[in-house]
Amino acid sequence: MSTQQDSKISHAIATSRKYLDIIHSKSLERAQAEELIRMTLRNFSEHYNPGFLDYRKSVTEGGDFAAVEWSGRGATFVDALGRTYLDALGGYGLLSLGWSHQKVVDAVKAQLDRSPMPTQEMLDWPRGMLADLLTSITPGDLQYAFFVSSGTEAIEGAMKFAKAATGKSGFIAAVRGFHGKTAGSLSLMGKAKFRKPAMPLLSNVYHVPYGDADAIEQQLHIAQEVGNDIAAVVMEPVQGEAGAIVPLDDFWPRLRQLCDAYGVLLIADEVQTGLGRTGALWGVNHWNVVPDIITSAKALGGGVMPIGAFIAGPKVWKTFIDDPFFHTTTTGGNPLACAAAIATINVVLEEDLPGQAAAKGDYMLARLKPMAERYDSIYERITGKGLLIGQHFHDAEVGYKVASGLFRRGVLISGTLTNAQTIRIEPPLVIEYDEIDAILDRLEDTLKAMSGAPVTGDVIQFPVVAPAEPVATNGHSRGKGKGHAKAHITAKSGSRHATRKAERVLSDTVAR
Ligand SMILES: Cc1ncc(COP(=O)(O)O)c(C=O)c1O
Repeated sequence: MSTQQDSKISHAIATSRKYLDIIHSKSLERAQAEELIRMTLRNFSEHYNPGFLDYRKSVTEGGDFAAVEWSGRGATFVDALGRTYLDALGGYGLLSLGWSHQKVVDAVKAQLDRSPMPTQEMLDWPRGMLADLLTSITPGDLQYAFFVSSGTEAIEGAMKFAKAATGKSGFIAAVRGFHGKTAGSLSLMGKAKFRKPAMPLLSNVYHVPYGDADAIEQQLHIAQEVGNDIAAVVMEPVQGEAGAIVPLDDFWPRLRQLCDAYGVLLIADEVQTGLGRTGALWGVNHWNVVPDIITSAKALGGGVMPIGAFIAGPKVWKTFIDDPFFHTTTTGGNPLACAAAIATINVVLEEDLPGQAAAKGDYMLARLKPMAERYDSIYERITGKGLLIGQHFHDAEVGYKVASGLFRRGVLISGTLTNAQTIRIEPPLVIEYDEIDAILDRLEDTLKAMSGAPVTGDVIQFPVVAPAEPVATNGHSRGKGKGHAKAHITAKSGSRHATRKAERVLSDTVAR
């Protein structure tokens, strides 16, 4: 080995030791936190993607003290400097159970100590258990499940199985639909911005306006007339990325009828809507529709492990039964991921997360819709079902101001420069009512500030640039609304008043 290679290896060993020390640390001193933030900015800029730092402007504009995530519980989390945030984003549906749900963490730890990965040859019992459990809560005769590690892989598998089961190769998907970013799922994608750089994609995917059953019927009819064989129609029960677009109640039942009439499979992409997000266990349950294939991912791992699945009945599974090597993956459905998903399903059912999403979604919408009407120069409309809510603004610039205004007030929400005209509110389903109140209060403050209206009460100001002294964590209640305590920061004094909950988050996560 050359001297240059030697010194590179020694440097990498020293660096890996330094990184491992941080991974193993339960808490950080102020100076260590500042160093971590600087290191993270440098690493992202030089070795991940400098464009990401520009894109996430609302998070990074604090310069040396950019927001670097550290730990959380439920819908509250802290960054490396101990600053507290409310999570109104929920990892785009990943964190339905909140940050680090204890039951999921415990199940994964137990499995981790026993055997984290499968032999590939013997029978790994967590996979069998999860397949049993997951298919027991899906509608109809969907008795088989295959596990992968992401949503896009679940879609790829669903497409491949649909082709094999029907002997056909075409698909119908929706304009502005989102199904992932690998070749097959990207072909279904209904947004030019994401598709164009990867073209040519699959040539026999036909897009129709979302929620328009007549357009789908016409497309199926045309395909039949001209000899384009369609294997399946792929749709989200409620469109997520497009901004929580809810179809009319007759859409999914008609879709089912049309697919039956034309001998085409129906694939429901429940990667984002599944496991309670929209106020029902599965999005399609709102309309009592049984699809031929359901895809799931994101929340399925409880926000602790990555896992995805596609689930179908015997007809769709036939090729796979005949040849078990028709579809394989080395890590998909590993014991850690399955343990997480088994615990997740237990939590979703025992804590009635679909019911919680329905009630909390109604609660949020009841205040959000009138707010959007009051600020009609900012908002175009509010859409959504359960805790998948879309705020639609007149333009992207206005949307970005709302997102960054909320972030400065300690609320994490989706939406940044390129796509801020529509911003989702998608918090953990376990979010508490006082946290919902706090998010809506801070939203109202943001809107007031944007429209130049006098701000009543304290202006909540999140310190993007951290104060020099160590962060104090006094409990503080504004005594408004349902008497809930709220975390907020007053602009005048610049001092920080965190909720007792935030203190608990810190001490809980440090204790683990
Ligand atoms: C409906 C839907 N399908 C598929 C995907 C892709 O999932 P993943 O990012 O895990 O590949 C997403 C991601 O946002 C999604 O919302």
